[in-house]
Amino acid sequence: MRTALPLVTDRRARPLRDLRISVTDRCNFRCGYCMPAEVYGESYRFLPKPQILTFEEIERLARLFAAQGVRKLRVTGGEPLVRAQLPDLIERLAALGGIDDLALTTNGYLLGAHAEALAKAGLRRVTVSLDSIDPVTFEQMNGRGLPLERVIAGIDAAARAGLTPIKINCVVQRGVNDAQIPDLVRHFRGSGHVVRFIEYMDVGTRNGWNLDDVVGADEMLERLGREFDLVPLEPGYRGEVARRWAHADGSGEIGLITSVTQPFCGDCTRARLSADGSLYTCLFAEDGLDLKTPLRDGASDEEVGELISSVWRARDDRYSEQRSSDTSSTRRVEMYHIGG
Ligand code: GTP
Ligand code: 5AD
Ligand code: SF4
Ligand code: SF4
Repeated sequence: MRTALPLVTDRRARPLRDLRISVTDRCNFRCGYCMPAEVYGESYRFLPKPQILTFEEIERLARLFAAQGVRKLRVTGGEPLVRAQLPDLIERLAALGGIDDLALTTNGYLLGAHAEALAKAGLRRVTVSLDSIDPVTFEQMNGRGLPLERVIAGIDAAARAGLTPIKINCVVQRGVNDAQIPDLVRHFRGSGHVVRFIEYMDVGTRNGWNLDDVVGADEMLERLGREFDLVPLEPGYRGEVARRWAHADGSGEIGLITSVTQPFCGDCTRARLSADGSLYTCLFAEDGLDLKTPLRDGASDEEVGELISSVWRARDDRYSEQRSSDTSSTRRVEMYHIGG
């Protein structure tokens, strides 16, 4: 039986609703805007295994977050599918009470092999990051020359396994893939999958972000409007990060994630847990709160729950609303560390 909700809200009255769980900081891709190959080469030292939360620890934390109001879990990375036995974790998370949605964000490369097991374990749906539907651009953008067809096969496998609605996330960078956004829309029109274009963000410190590289949502919409007849839709739920548009003929939906030009901090109900067990209250945070140490030192559920709620009560983050054009000197957590 569900007890009365001990709803915790932050200093801007935002409840804690979503938890994004990073299960590894490793990835089989080297996207230039996230883990540029020059920086993350063979000798780069990712988190050593003992520092990574076990599935038991993640399950326990997810349960304690659910007790503070979390209703939606999203498993991320790095690339979550490079973590061994991921379906075992999904099974544990799917069995938790009070959770309405359990999703996974992946680059799709290993999805063909794992989609069915993930669905059987209780995963509801997947979001696949796919920056281009052009094989050559895709190979360039993943930084490793990996073939597009594997990701397309992964998306197909996810659809067959019922991990729907599938969302396709495309990070748009001027001069890199912006000319191809209509191609992505055309490709997935009528498939039931929702293509979402994300404004390139200044997350992390290593991608050399520059405002000139950002293509704003208005410009994207203007370009898409030349080819497609799009009508606006209402948000699917409170705090949804994507603004939704539908093809007027009913052949599908697209989304625009406007974190740079039209920030959505006012409704931000997301917490992020890094693979090594730190809690971040913003994608652009400098530091997280270490939950792993108290967990491993034998803290009780009440003590860990109190740590989570006190951090959330003190939260005042609204980075995207305050962003200045010079973001070069700031210290910030890297995207692959907290999974976007
Ligand atoms: P749905 O549950 O399907 O609506 O997914 P979602 O949009 O919450 O999650 P997803 O991982 O697909 O998020 C898409 C992208 O939006 C992320 O990868 C980020 O680039 C961006 N994004 C998501 N949440 C935030 C946020 O809190 N702040 C900012 N600035 N960007 C975010
Ligand atoms: N700006 C916008 N989105 C980004 N992602 C990674 N780095 C950035 C960035 N700098 C996206 C990935 C994936 C999600 C987890 O975050 O493409 O869809
Ligand atoms: Fe890997 Fe995703 Fe980062 Fe690309 S954006 S390097 S797929 S974690
Ligand atoms: Fe939330 Fe921070 Fe993103 Fe604003 S910038 S929406 S507070 S994660």
